[in-house]
Amino acid sequence: MSSTTFTWIGVLLIVFVTVVDGRLIHSLSSVNGGSDCATCSIVLGLVDRLAIVYNESAAQALERLCSYLPGDFKVYCKTAVDVLGPLIIDGFIKGDNPDVICHALKFCHDDPGQPKCRTYPSKSSLSLSQRALHLRQQHPLIDSLLATPKICQIPGIAEICKILENVFNNHEPLVDFDHDQFGTEVTFRGTSWRGKDCDDFSSQIHPGARASQGDSVLDHNCNGILGMNSATGQSWEDEMCNDTQRMGIAVLGDSISAHFHIPEQWLDASQFSPQAFEHLMFILENELDWPQLSASTGHVNVSWPNIQGPTRSLYGRLFDLDHCNHRDYQNIAVNGARSSTMTSIMKSLARQPKGDVPLLVIYSLVGNDVCNGHPDTINHMTTVEEMYKNVMTALTYLDTVLPKGSHVLTTGLGNGSMLYDLLRTRLHPLGRVGPPLTYPQMYDYLSCLQISPCNGWLSSNDTLRELTTERAVQLSGAVRNATFTYNAKNYDVAYLDFPFDQAIQEWEAQGGEPWQLIESVDGFHVNQYGHAIISDIIWSWLQKEKPQWLPPLNPHNADIERVFKDQGGY
Ligand SMILES: *[C@@H]1O[C@H](CO)[C@@H](O)[C@H](O)[C@H]1NC(C)=O
Ligand SMILES: *[C@@H]1O[C@H](CO)[C@@H](O)[C@H](O)[C@H]1NC(C)=O
Ligand SMILES: *[C@@H]1O[C@H](CO)[C@@H](O)[C@H](O)[C@H]1NC(C)=O
Ligand SMILES: *[C@@H]1O[C@H](CO)[C@@H](O)[C@H](O)[C@H]1NC(C)=O
Ligand SMILES: *[C@@H]1O[C@H](CO)[C@@H](O)[C@H](O)[C@H]1NC(C)=O
Ligand SMILES: *[C@@H]1O[C@H](CO)[C@@H](O)[C@H](O)[C@H]1NC(C)=O
Repeated sequence: MSSTTFTWIGVLLIVFVTVVDGRLIHSLSSVNGGSDCATCSIVLGLVDRLAIVYNESAAQALERLCSYLPGDFKVYCKTAVDVLGPLIIDGFIKGDNPDVICHALKFCHDDPGQPKCRTYPSKSSLSLSQRALHLRQQHPLIDSLLATPKICQIPGIAEICKILENVFNNHEPLVDFDHDQFGTEVTFRGTSWRGKDCDDFSSQIHPGARASQGDSVLDHNCNGILGMNSATGQSWEDEMCNDTQRMGIAVLGDSISAHFHIPEQWLDASQFSPQAFEHLMFILENELDWPQLSASTGHVNVSWPNIQGPTRSLYGRLFDLDHCNHRDYQNIAVNGARSSTMTSIMKSLARQPKGDVPLLVIYSLVGNDVCNGHPDTINHMTTVEEMYKNVMTALTYLDTVLPKGSHVLTTGLGNGSMLYDLLRTRLHPLGRVGPPLTYPQMYDYLSCLQISPCNGWLSSNDTLRELTTERAVQLSGAVRNATFTYNAKNYDVAYLDFPFDQAIQEWEAQGGEPWQLIESVDGFHVNQYGHAIISDIIWSWLQKEKPQWLPPLNPHNADIERVFKDQGGY
């Protein structure tokens, strides 16, 4: 029984672990229960609030929660509830809050010498540990069912955790027969991330390749343009595409560039619905990222309930200028990436100096060099010297893979103090119903469990936030310094401060409020509206400062649409 019992919780654990760090950290901290504790408190906090929204018992709310999940998740959820449900329901009936119940389940504990972590104010005269002990004693069976309170160590779950770990730790296409790093599947680093391969059995054929023999027979660059124009006797590619002007785009980045997004409908009891979970598997297989909607490589609009706002991207604009650039995008961004890990992540960028056309590369690491969950967070930040060295390493490597005529735009780090200031009085989606939960309360709770994505910025300590911003400014200086010091043979460079304050100004000018640009669940990332605006800003900046980087308008775009329709889509 135990093999499927915790699958659902295991999935939520991973989901939540990623929320709190943008990478897998369940091995990093188990102080006070760490992410197991956070997962338990948040799921039970949601159950408590569903009961309020629907005016129903905790038992009914648990059942509702399971019934809204898709496919197998529904079954796993019900199995988990069979085991854990009696204690949970009994706890709620006795008036215990999720903190107490999660202590009774031993997912949470108060470690000696550590601060106590709570999501609910205590209303009881008995101490939390007394209530938890009492509740546990009433359910002696739980001891045999829950031999270890570590979710991923439970037999059976270990395999599932491994599968998910695979998704979150491997960043190359899962299905790629010709090993050219372009595939035909959508998720698992497939076409959401990199243009679709139009022949997965030839590594010479992939997005970004130079056309060969006018692509009169084979579509080498996968831009959907091939064959001969019988009227003129010339190949379409020769007629419509100007090979020398083509320009692909790639981003080397972190969760901001990958477009990390957790639907708020998953945590806000008043918006909880089966529709919110319709695409759960797809979303997990994309690492909770939405590169297909991002500022750099976005290429579709989706009307799923999880997304609000349009897709506008740099790729989209390169395509609009010249339809011959169709599918030439690569999103090489990984949740949690920092300048040191980027020196290996960047190796999965696919470009051949001779065989491919030039590339516009955005190098943008916005926060993880100053963000970590350690209590002594400052000691774990990247130093100026390290940052400079890491950026140099990246620039040196790029010079070996980029075709001549490429361009590299680096950006500085963001200013996380700003995010905090914008959200400090607002309610987290989980706390919009029932007991209120503000962003600072949520952050302090995660900090307490030592699983905060960013102790430096997501902190109610003003001094600490300022110190973190100060380091971020210094590191941006190092990025800029390295960018202009390295002498590249195959590309030219530019540097841009991460334009979040301009995005805010732009949004306010359109009548919006700044907080509306921030992801509501994590309070840290830029959301869909923000991505569209940041792409507007970078594009305008390029038009003004680097017009020579942008290809001219292809006069044949309308002909391409007429002859090749959507060029094979994405
Ligand atoms: C909630 O349900 C109870 C009985 O289940 C009922 O007495 C009460 O009126 C309901 N409250 C609301 C606000 O619907
Ligand atoms: C194609 O390239 C040549 C030389 O680079 C240029 O003169 C010409 O205007 C370009 N044509 C188009 C349609 O962009
Ligand atoms: C998405 O829709 C918006 C608004 O209709 C449009 O401006 C944008 O170009 C579309 N983006 C894509 C990638 O289709
Ligand atoms: C960062 O943001 C904070 C809060 O909005 C602001 O006070 C500070 O001046 C900003 N610092 C920099 C370097 O932009
Ligand atoms: C705030 O952070 C600073 C810098 O880490 C630290 O010296 C100070 O003790 C902290 N203040 C509080 C109240 O925790
Ligand atoms: C940038 O380079 C200049 C000149 O080499 C140096 O004086 C300065 O300290 C450097 N700044 C950073 C942030 O590395």
